[in-house]
Amino acid sequence: MDDTLLSNLPGTRDILPEEMSSWHLVEDAARKVFACYGFEEIRTPLFEATELYARGIGGETDVVGKEMYTFSDQSGKSMSLRPEATASVVRAYLQHSMHRGAGLTKLYYIGPMFRHEKKQKGRWRQFYQIGAEALGSEHPAVETEVIEMLLSFLSSLGVQSRLLINSVGDANCRPQYIDTLRAELRSRQGSLCDDCRRRTETNPLRVLDCKVETCQPTINDLPMIADHLCSECAHHFELVKQYLQEAAIAYEIVPRLVRGLDYYVRTAFEIVSGDLGAQNALVGGGRYDGLAEVLGGSRVPGFGFAMGLDRLVMILPQEIQARGKHPPDLFLAHLGEAAFHRALEVARITRGNGIFCQLEFSDGSLKSQLRQANRIGARTVLIIGEEEMARGSYTLKSMENSTQTEVTIDQLKNHFKK
Ligand code: HAM
Repeated sequence: MDDTLLSNLPGTRDILPEEMSSWHLVEDAARKVFACYGFEEIRTPLFEATELYARGIGGETDVVGKEMYTFSDQSGKSMSLRPEATASVVRAYLQHSMHRGAGLTKLYYIGPMFRHEKKQKGRWRQFYQIGAEALGSEHPAVETEVIEMLLSFLSSLGVQSRLLINSVGDANCRPQYIDTLRAELRSRQGSLCDDCRRRTETNPLRVLDCKVETCQPTINDLPMIADHLCSECAHHFELVKQYLQEAAIAYEIVPRLVRGLDYYVRTAFEIVSGDLGAQNALVGGGRYDGLAEVLGGSRVPGFGFAMGLDRLVMILPQEIQARGKHPPDLFLAHLGEAAFHRALEVARITRGNGIFCQLEFSDGSLKSQLRQANRIGARTVLIIGEEEMARGSYTLKSMENSTQTEVTIDQLKNHFKK
């Protein structure tokens, strides 16, 4: 047997049943909070035309240039596994004419994304995102509404985080800023790492985001975009800050904050958590008013975010994780062949009444069955033996306080209804 077939590929992983309760808890909480803000779920394909990502996210970005899983099907058309979902959501919005008159179209998604990144803690090649996109308005209060929803969701899960924001300008002011930045970088090539030297020509904004120690003094000296915003972008940013303050949302302005995807204009933000280690970004997002046009549609301003679900689950507090665990209501201990048949029938009846019921298929002693009930955390055990069957009533034992009561099957159904 080939050993490599017995392990998953690097950067992928199995999310095992014991972890799933936390995933469900987080997904359910997102659905609940997002619904209060009028967001509806959308599911887009896991793969799309490579061109959608190349145009939407930008051919010079690391995500498109280095990290996509690209293949062609029998027709020879190039396709890629989705590295993110914003481009697909905007494509779907345009394709299905989802605009809601003057109102916002609010969409959210939960699902896997794929990027061939260097493997490290908190970074996978198949990872999951929960994201939301508000389409159809340039109003700076949209930023606050979406960020408020996000923070309300995170605080419902007891997650501590910090909101970092910046304005990255728009097509009006950013090209001039990039020229200034590039000129500055060209004069300082000697103090930059190889990646930053390359980015000087391909994507100078990304230099601001470099984490290499030796680049930091140079980066700290570089002109900042905040000082080069056009009056419209500066005004928009002022209003965003004002609305955030009105909503009592604490934020930190990080002038070096730039995002790794090209579609952002004006507001860019991240939510970071100190509990995550080196890969501390829990959420990334921003405004992308020009994306729909880049994809060939009409102008549709948008603002949204995506959150790393794997990372969120990693830092979920223990007491919140415990809330997601649902042990069996009832364990059926059966003694003898006839009792086993009766237990199967009781299981059918109780499960049909919405009761989470478990039983073993091997014949163990009462002691070993009680031990098993304890191991899986069952709250109560129903003991089914020949005597009980003859009586038509059974011993119901509480595993929480060891009390015992005698019940018929009808009474058992009512016991759990209470
Ligand atoms: P992003 O910053 O590329 O933005 O990803 C968002 C979040 O996904 C990150 O903050 C991180 O938590 C998680 N993430 C990204 N890559 C990985 C990875 N390799 N392993 C684990 N988690 C990862 C976007 O994807 C944009 N589409 C967000 C957006 C939506 N902007 C506007 N709307």
